[in-house]
Amino acid sequence: MKSRYEAAKQVFVDSVDIEDYIDLDASVAAYKQLEYSLEKPLKMILLFGRPGTGKSILLNRIQEKLKHQKEIHYFDTPAVNEKEFFHKLFKVLTQKDLPSNTEVNFSALVEFCQNLRGKREIIILLDEAQMYGTEMMEKIRLLSDSRAVKFVVSLHKTDDEDLIAKEHFQSRIWEVIELKNATKEDQTAYIHKKLLKKNLFEIANSIKAKDMKLIHKFTKGNYRECNKLLFTIFEICEYYDKNEPAKVNYAHIHHRIIEMSALKLGYIHV
Ligand SMILES: Nc1ncnc2c1ncn2[C@@H]1O[C@H](COP(=O)(O)OP(=O)(O)O)[C@@H](O)[C@H]1O
Ligand SMILES: [Mg+2]
Repeated sequence: MKSRYEAAKQVFVDSVDIEDYIDLDASVAAYKQLEYSLEKPLKMILLFGRPGTGKSILLNRIQEKLKHQKEIHYFDTPAVNEKEFFHKLFKVLTQKDLPSNTEVNFSALVEFCQNLRGKREIIILLDEAQMYGTEMMEKIRLLSDSRAVKFVVSLHKTDDEDLIAKEHFQSRIWEVIELKNATKEDQTAYIHKKLLKKNLFEIANSIKAKDMKLIHKFTKGNYRECNKLLFTIFEICEYYDKNEPAKVNYAHIHHRIIEMSALKLGYIHV
């Protein structure tokens, strides 16, 4: 028989699916800030945060919400090369396909954008922008100077490198929206709501406030880490459910299981 924990485990497979978006306090605040910033005459807006804080899902959400009112496009991972990126951009801007063997004439594209000023307003959501090189960012900036194209640049915050300090980011006055790791409240809501969406009420109820505190401590409120931890917790629960059901407390997830998962993921050491 299939364990009930199988479904719970699947809930925490890391993915960016707009159907799974949840209104959390911090996401709602960042969303509103982003929506508001998009109304301002800004050329570039910076969305900033550590990996796993929900930048991609937020960009997807805003694209989904505004796509009927605005020309808004989401660019996920940067194209392998510049040529491919400009082809994609060319298509979005000119609404025409460029033959694949043709190089985009950049200055012509800039001019094209200048002519769009006041006629069209295009929003480009650039995810994973830390992967674009300085030259690319400079070109992106030149396009944004036309004021026909606005860029939302999503960047990972890393420990070793302060990307914002880089010249091409620093020299512009941008709006900065920062996503932080989740508070215990937001993370609790995230876990519960994700399970409830799949009708896993009993399992949601089996994770108590104390457990949430522990989960938050181990993951530091990072959503990606949270997904990993919950996946592992339910994986272990599933194992016991199948092999030693007498040991399973369905009403309350055992602390030992949370700790075993944390150990497995290297959050704690023996
Ligand atoms: N508001 C939210 N609603 C639903 N899922 C979320 C939310 N915020 C983050 N997540 C989930 O957390 C994980 C990490 O989010 P992601 O957008 O990929 O982060 P980032 O792009 O900052 O690395 C994903 O599985 C994502 O679906
Ligand atoms: Mg991302």
